[in-house]
Amino acid sequence: DAVILGNGSNEIIELLVRTFMSPGDHAVTSDNSFSVYHLIVRAANGNITMVPMQDGHYDLKKIRESITSRTRMVFIANPNNPTGTIVTTADVRDFMNSVPEDVLVVFDEAYAEYVTSPEYPDDMSYLRAGHNVAILRTFSKIYGLAGLRIGYGLTKIEITNMVNRVRQPFNTNSLAQVAALAALDDTSHVENSRRINKEGKEFLYKEFDSIGIKYLPTEANFIYFQTGKDGREIFDAMLKEGVIIRHMGGQNLRVTIGLPEENRRFISALRKVSGR
Ligand SMILES: Cc1ncc(COP(=O)(O)O)c(C=O)c1O
Repeated sequence: DAVILGNGSNEIIELLVRTFMSPGDHAVTSDNSFSVYHLIVRAANGNITMVPMQDGHYDLKKIRESITSRTRMVFIANPNNPTGTIVTTADVRDFMNSVPEDVLVVFDEAYAEYVTSPEYPDDMSYLRAGHNVAILRTFSKIYGLAGLRIGYGLTKIEITNMVNRVRQPFNTNSLAQVAALAALDDTSHVENSRRINKEGKEFLYKEFDSIGIKYLPTEANFIYFQTGKDGREIFDAMLKEGVIIRHMGGQNLRVTIGLPEENRRFISALRKVSGR
């Protein structure tokens, strides 16, 4: 009963905001993180502080300092989209030791299944210890069911009960629920995807290093990188080569790690358009 199902984990973010934030309330997250947090908070007439990142990482100390008496929620994407970086067990421990009890801490773990770092925190331990946390997971990423729209949140039963008053009774469809249950048993798919992602990541790191592209080491299924040139121009030129990446502002770009053939095609197009 402490599980909330959502029409994608996106809907759970929306449900939490609609349940716990009134106009004028405040939330905190990081700059350069998943845009839905600020879009939904603002749509609910809330205020949100987006704390600058430190070297591509969430700055949990500054996030703690940004909490006010109006703060209802903190959003932590871990791993973060688009940087692929994580907050560690030690970062989260310090943060949770000082965060006010009445602030709901949302750990958005959409990409958790890709993580290989031993420093990745066990956020469930805070839930078990009775903290006001919600942990969001999705079937859209490693399970590959994005089009079916299904995700879930794990939280305290009191929080689920409140969200259930706001949630539409049939917010997730039965086809997605059947697929999600089957996906949970399909451990070989997850292992395979993890292996392909790890091998793709190592290939891309090697190629980036050899052509002198700067990137952030990732714990997710995408890599955040810069070529030293305007990102928009690189994005447009890549599109003409038939390769879709994401421009993330300035020189910053994000590429999703693909199958070996796709990764090779991406690298050869990138070499061509960046003149390297
Ligand atoms: C950090 C993060 N959280 C949540 C989502 C939402 O995923 P979905 O609504 O498909 O479960 C995404 C999707 O891009 C994401 O990057």
